Amino acid sequence: MLERESTMRVGILGSGLMGAKLGTIFARAGHEVVFSYARSEQKLKKLAREAKGKAQPGTPREAAQEADAVLLAVHWSRIGDVLKQTGDLSGKVVVTCSLPMNDDNTELVVAHTSSGAEELAKMIPKARVVSAFNTVPSEVLFGVYESKRKANRPSLLYCGDDSSSKRVAADLIRDVVFVPVDAGPLRIARYTEPFALLVGQLAYEGKGGPELAYRFERFGK
Ligand SMILES: NC(=O)c1ccc[n+]([C@@H]2O[C@H](COP(=O)([O-])OP(=O)(O)OC[C@H]3O[C@@H](n4cnc5c(N)ncnc54)[C@H](OP(=O)(O)O)[C@@H]3O)[C@@H](O)[C@H]2O)c1
Repeated sequence: MLERESTMRVGILGSGLMGAKLGTIFARAGHEVVFSYARSEQKLKKLAREAKGKAQPGTPREAAQEADAVLLAVHWSRIGDVLKQTGDLSGKVVVTCSLPMNDDNTELVVAHTSSGAEELAKMIPKARVVSAFNTVPSEVLFGVYESKRKANRPSLLYCGDDSSSKRVAADLIRDVVFVPVDAGPLRIARYTEPFALLVGQLAYEGKGGPELAYRFERFGK
């Protein structure tokens, strides 16, 4: 079990807007990455080639089985399918950025009394689920990573019930150059998931464009 920052093997389940970018950044940060679950194998090969780090294409099973952490980055409607393909995830750190959206991505289909992250944890009860990376648009990820030398890093919310897997997630969040903000147990995803829709609203409907992140600051003593 990984307790501190070191090179990890990270399996990417869903190599679309989020998975492709985060996987590329994780590889550039020195991790071994396996890109999986896209509709074309060519795409996975290209992503691995262009990540400029230790990255390879693979099946969801290959991405998951030897991984220290997996990133789940598929549409809510694909979760059952991808989990079927990974095989047993018992004991695995599963970082999910997936939001429980309806098919046309207009509404949360789970909210208030549960969250996508909690429903996911029920589907894989022996895995250690952390919700992270879902509160920023994919368009901002490279910009944040490339802002390494700037003083004011943006925040990134994460939550989960297992402290050692949260440390792994926090390390990955730092690798993307965000400041991890521990929001508490997994049920706090009931708040972070709607917040992600707010950030999406500002990113995609606001005036400044989608390269948007946020930063929490404390004032007073
Ligand atoms: N995009 C964002 O800015 C953002 C921000 C916060 C949270 N999220 C959440 O993150 C999750 C991923 O979002 P995304 O925007 O990265 O989604 P996406 O671009 O649609 O990526 C999903 C991945 O799943 C693959 N896929 C879909 N159907 C498949 C099938 N039948 N067989 C094999 N692979 C299949 C896609 O393949 P292809 O590569 O071939 O299309 C793609 O690689 C979602 O739950 C979303 O709500 C997204």
